[in-house]
Formats: sequence, C-alpha cells, structure tokens
Amino acid sequence: MRLFGGKGPAITNGLDIGTSYIKLVRLQHLNEIDVNLLGYGLKKVPRDAIVEKEIRDHDTVLGIIQSLIDEVDPSIKEVSISLAGRRVFTDKFQVKVPKKRENLRESIMIEAEQKLPMGTEGLIIDYHILHESEDSKTAEILMVAVHNDFLRDYVLLMQDGGYSVVGVDVDYIALTNALKHNIIVNPEDSQVIVDIGNSITNLTFLLNGAYFNVRDITGGTLDIWKTIQMKLRVSPEELSQLESGEATWPNESEFQNAVYAATEELKMGLDMAFSYFENITKGNQISQLYLAGGGSIIPYLGEVLSEKLSLTYQVLNPFYKLHYDPSIFVGTSPEAIAPLFSVAVGLGLRKD
Ligand SMILES: Nc1ncnc2c1ncn2[C@@H]1O[C@H](COP(=O)(O)OP(=O)(O)OP(=O)(O)O)[C@@H](O)[C@H]1O
Ligand SMILES: [Mg+2]
Repeated sequence: MRLFGGKGPAITNGLDIGTSYIKLVRLQHLNEIDVNLLGYGLKKVPRDAIVEKEIRDHDTVLGIIQSLIDEVDPSIKEVSISLAGRRVFTDKFQVKVPKKRENLRESIMIEAEQKLPMGTEGLIIDYHILHESEDSKTAEILMVAVHNDFLRDYVLLMQDGGYSVVGVDVDYIALTNALKHNIIVNPEDSQVIVDIGNSITNLTFLLNGAYFNVRDITGGTLDIWKTIQMKLRVSPEELSQLESGEATWPNESEFQNAVYAATEELKMGLDMAFSYFENITKGNQISQLYLAGGGSIIPYLGEVLSEKLSLTYQVLNPFYKLHYDPSIFVGTSPEAIAPLFSVAVGLGLRKD
C-alpha cells in the first residue's frame, strides 16, 4: 500500500483516530478551491483503548468508529486516515532528478534507505516532493517511513468494520494542508502549528511558506487539565464538564491563573523546540503561532501562551474556508469545535 494520498474522488472522508477523541469529516470537492463540509462528528475514546497511537482495544475502537460513521453518514465506506507517533519516521533530503523521470521514485528510495539507520526491514516508505528546483534538476523530498504492522493494525481494523482505507497521511502533513487551505501564510516569516492533543503536542514548522520539519513534545491536554483540576480543586465530574465546554469556571481570573500554571511545561517545551528551529535554520525566528487540537479550545490558553512566548497567535479554524449549511452546527458554533478537526479536514482535503 502507498502512504499518502487516495484516488481522487469528489467526496472524501477524513478520519482522525486520536487517543482521546475520534473525529470524522465528510467533504465534497466542488472544484480545486471550493469544498463543502457535508458532515462532521466526534466521539470520545475510553482511556487506554489507544495508547501512544497503538490500538489496544480493537473492538471498542471499532465500535466507536462505526457509531461515528453511522451518525455522520451511514453510506460511508471509504476513509482516509492519519498516522502519528514514535512509529512514524520522517526525514527531508535533496535528490537529483534523473533524466528519465520515471526513475525518480527509485532514486528517492535509494536515498531513503541511507537515511534509515535501523534499515528498511518491516517498514513502508513513501515520500512527498516538497519542492523542485527551477531547472528541474533537483528535488526536495519529504520521506516518511512507518512500521508495516503499525499501519496494518489500522487498515485491518477498518476492514473488520467493512470499510476501506483509501488514503494514508501523517498528522503534520494533514495539519499543513488544513492551514494552507484556510489561511494565507506570509512566506517571508516562519510559523509553527502547535497541535495540542491528549498526551502529545505536535509542532509543525513552516519556513518560506512551506512545510519545514516536525517535532513532538510530550504532554498535552491530559497534563494541562490535571494541573487545572489541582489548582481549582474540582471533582472529576466538574472537570469533565469543563473539558467538554459544557460548563465554564465562574471566576474568570482564577481560571486564567490555573491555565497560566498548567501551561508552564508546554511553554518550556516550545521554547526548546523554537531554539532548535532557530539553530538549524541559522537564525530564523518563529513569528506566528497557529494553535490546533483540543488544547487550543481550553479557555485563555491561546492568550496565555502568546504572552509567555511573546508571539502572536491564531487558532487554526479548519472550517473557515469550507462551505457548509449552517444548520449542520446545531447547538454549537463552528469556532467552538473546529480546532479539534484540523487533522480530519487536512486528510479530507487531499485528493491525489
Ligand atoms: N467539545 C469540546 N469542547 C471543548 N474542548 C474539547 C471538546 N472536546 C474535546 N475537548 C478537549 O480536547 C481534548 C482532546 O483533543 P484532541 O482531540 O485534539 O486530542 P487527540 O487527537 O485525541 O489526542 P492525540 O492527538 O494526542 O492522539 C480533550 O482532552 C479536551 O480537553
Ligand atoms: Mg490528535
């Protein structure tokens, strides 16, 4: 199976199997630019059913996916999925484009093998062409390698439910696509997409308006909410209401202080990652923060991080440029939930 891409249908279904929430969007591609959001949905995953992106409780996860699909559109049979975590490797390199272009894949594969110190056994390798020189002599390649059995677990899970996986991507490419579809990034500056998930925060760096590299930092909403719970002394029931946005804390400044304390570790992780980026790009500084994932919905989190890092921020709303019938957002607003769907939308936007 090829990683990356599907077969180019007019309707795509992006399924983001997160550790704490499974998200689905159904998109209709009207033309190259206009995309309709036909439906969306999310369902909570019980703790430990997925650990570090590995599916531990097959039946439970499949049951959740089936009920999510039934809710969004029971006719869905084909989905695109995303992989992430420590069993996905990535690297970037230049290759000479061979005179016979059909040999490009082979040249890339030879170079890719050199880049994998552990060898290529048991891995599936694929690539994206990020950039080609103007004379078409060299190309910049993004290589992605995943463990065969890791990918197979996902594909077999879907097959067991009677679905087929028509596209496989990785979180950071999906996020880059979601960003670029909705926001015009300044190619003069460097930006970072910070996807604050359940246990991991994923950073995708952009340089010259294009994907540059990626870094994971440990910690996400689980740790943030744990600290908020401790600081505000809330019960598990109250916490779950705060987490899902069903309730808000009555004393705003108290909540803001708790978020301030709860984001200290994340701030330190971001600082380190930004210094690393600055070093490897010989002095490029991040100028803009795009926040994605469930963490970006936590009240005050954006303001607090922006203040701590002295950077402007914007919450990535992957629905922003999509067309939709407003009635699909019953009882909620697109802005309130959109950041949860950045990966799912990015998956769905891909047609190639
Ligand atoms: N309806 C909601 N309103 C507000 N916040 C929510 C809502 N649903 C979930 N969240 C927050 O989003 C978090 C989950 O974020 P997200 O879905 O991005 O993680 P994930 O993709 O499951 O995790 P990972 O990427 O680490 O696998 C929850 O812990 C909660 O804090
Ligand atoms: Mg996620």
